[in-house]
Amino acid sequence: MDANDKKYTNGEITVFWQPKKCIHATTCYRELIEVFNPRKRPWVNMNGASTEEIVRVVKLCPTQALSFKYNNDIRDEEQKEKTAEGAETGAEVRVMEDGPLVVKGNFVIYDTDGKELKHLKLTSLCRCGSSHDLPYCDGTHRKIGFTGK
Ligand code: SF4
Ligand code: FES
Repeated sequence: MDANDKKYTNGEITVFWQPKKCIHATTCYRELIEVFNPRKRPWVNMNGASTEEIVRVVKLCPTQALSFKYNNDIRDEEQKEKTAEGAETGAEVRVMEDGPLVVKGNFVIYDTDGKELKHLKLTSLCRCGSSHDLPYCDGTHRKIGFTGK
């Protein structure tokens, strides 16, 4: 999305407007001034007509400066993106001799209540149980002479 692009929603659909593509062909406001009124700010009033009517007029825009998506579809897309990101997650865990577990990758750490603690790319998790910053390693394993392969 361009920095000047705008979006407007009525909760059911979101209308996108890309000023760069708009040739001010006037189609939208000749068809539906209750929604597309260039004299008003914001110039799109999503409560001015029914979703069906807005969709009909958006489709008439000759340059696709106006476009729309159903909010349900936007949510699905966002969910898919998250899942795709999730699929890219995957971490490599290395057991350090006499030391912590070094975790590398793209991962999230949750606490015992399932609350997200950190979204990280690299961390060391305590294996000796003596860290003062659990679940992370704070180097205490060296002081206590922890051994572990
Ligand atoms: S119909 Fe499209 S191109 Fe024409 S004025 Fe409206 S937004 Fe701009
Ligand atoms: S492993 Fe480093 S403090 Fe426990």
